[in-house]
Amino acid sequence: MSEQSFDLVVVGGGPGGYVAAIRAAQLGLKTACVEMRETLGGTCLNVGCIPSKALLTSSHKYHEAQHGLAVHGVKLGSVSLDLKAMMGHKDKVVKDNTVGIDFLFKKNKITRFKGKGSIAAAGQVLVTSADGKQEKISAKKILIATGSDVMPLPGVTIDEKQIVSSTGALSLSSVPKKMVVIGGGVIGLELGSVWQRLGSDVTVVEFLDRLMPGMDADLANNAKKILEKQGMKFRLSSKVTGAKTMPNKVTLSVEAAAGGSPETLDADVVLVCIGRSPYTQGLGLEAVGVKLDERKRIAVGHNFETNVAGIYAIGDVIAGPMLAHKAEDEGVVCAEMMAGQSGHINYDAIPSVVYTHPEIASVGKTEEELKKAGVTYKTGKFPFSANGRARAMNDIDGFVKILADAKTDKVLGCHILGPDAGTLIAEVVLAMEFSASSEDIARTCHAHPTLNEVVKEAALAVDGRPIHI
Ligand code: FAD
Ligand code: NAI
Repeated sequence: MSEQSFDLVVVGGGPGGYVAAIRAAQLGLKTACVEMRETLGGTCLNVGCIPSKALLTSSHKYHEAQHGLAVHGVKLGSVSLDLKAMMGHKDKVVKDNTVGIDFLFKKNKITRFKGKGSIAAAGQVLVTSADGKQEKISAKKILIATGSDVMPLPGVTIDEKQIVSSTGALSLSSVPKKMVVIGGGVIGLELGSVWQRLGSDVTVVEFLDRLMPGMDADLANNAKKILEKQGMKFRLSSKVTGAKTMPNKVTLSVEAAAGGSPETLDADVVLVCIGRSPYTQGLGLEAVGVKLDERKRIAVGHNFETNVAGIYAIGDVIAGPMLAHKAEDEGVVCAEMMAGQSGHINYDAIPSVVYTHPEIASVGKTEEELKKAGVTYKTGKFPFSANGRARAMNDIDGFVKILADAKTDKVLGCHILGPDAGTLIAEVVLAMEFSASSEDIARTCHAHPTLNEVVKEAALAVDGRPIHI
């Protein structure tokens, strides 16, 4: 066994791990990254953010070509779907992105090890490659960035053909006639939208009495109405208790969440998306004594160090929202602190975006959270239907809602349902980073005609003085 040594060995090459490795290398640490997949980029680039956004964009274009262009005076002949080409585009986008990380690793002189990493002891990582070969590497510091995996649902066994996880749902070879989505969260609404636009009859079965728990309820309820208009069906307060797979269909047993008489629901394809679990399997954490929290995530202190000195963790495998940009920011801050700099993440200003059409974007506190915490706040809301640019785009569904402290006017949260909400929210995230008031946003000049003017009008509405409504 050869033994190389590094200042930092990162286990996991997703957005948390690869970004941490790049930042550490920039700061002069001799850095290695162990990744068990063939390609770098983790869940996000391989089977998550990137392929799902490729299919969301492509399926939106297909849907627009069928239903959204005539109003603009653009007439098309018959529009047909080439699913193989659509999947080919998605695969190329994934490849270009993952290969891009190889380039960045070379540029930053990061050594990549292909294989499964486990921690033999503090300061020592064992890499086992697919053919069973083992290599020990020593590291002054080890960073665990192993991410998360699909959460299974007892009684509904995923075969990635008829009963699929998000990974299978990104690669179906034909459009299912009927799709049942178990879980009305982010993946359910995004991938449900993809297949619904391509022609599937999609029913979402959600355990709770609302969609997207954790998101502002006003946003979630309005999004549900819009998605229903698009043809998506919802069965809230319902649970799936079992699945029977036959050659051409899956029959699900569904009953009220509170219990009751079971009904059956048939589908060609069932998508299971009830959340993701931190991935710590095979890391050897027990042997080295790394502690987990109550939800089996790796427990870390403020500098991302675990209870074992020299072992750190970031991203989906620790507490907090399971989002690529959260993992990336933690990677940067963790590397900077390892290199002796100070670092900070404002967890109150991490945006989350659901890439349906219209998009759904949130940052900061929801109304429910503010009420629960007894904070007095003011609300400013403005609809896209009163915005010239949104009208020109024929994209008028939704609104921007800004929540500001009643006494200080400090922006506490923003919730957007509307075209390009994911891009629009960035302005408010930045405002919150600078502890801005709603008046700061309202008095900032916004270009006309832009969708961003809806954000300005919502900020004006906090003080009861929107102009265009
Ligand atoms: P991961 O990306 O999961 O990377 C961890 C890596 O570690 C993996 O490549 C894994 O192979 C590797 N690994 C695990 N154990 C070992 C080991 N022992 N040895 C070596 N390698 C190991 N987030 C967003 O912000 N925006 C989105 O639009 C978005 N869309 C998504 C769509 C889908 C369908 C899914 C499933 C997720 C999506 N996410 C999105 C979530 C996002 O993918 C994750 O939050 C993000 O990838 C977490 O980054 P990470 O680096 O912590 O972990
Ligand atoms: P999720 O946590 O967003 O939603 C899961 C949903 O399933 C919840 O509404 C929950 O109440 C419901 N549920 C749980 N058990 C159930 C059951 N037995 N029957 C019916 N419903 C049940 O999880 P999801 O959609 O799987 O996504 C996982 C994570 O991936 C998300 O938390 C998110 O962080 C990340 N992601 C982010 C995206 C983005 O940023 N655009 C896109 C996709 C995923």
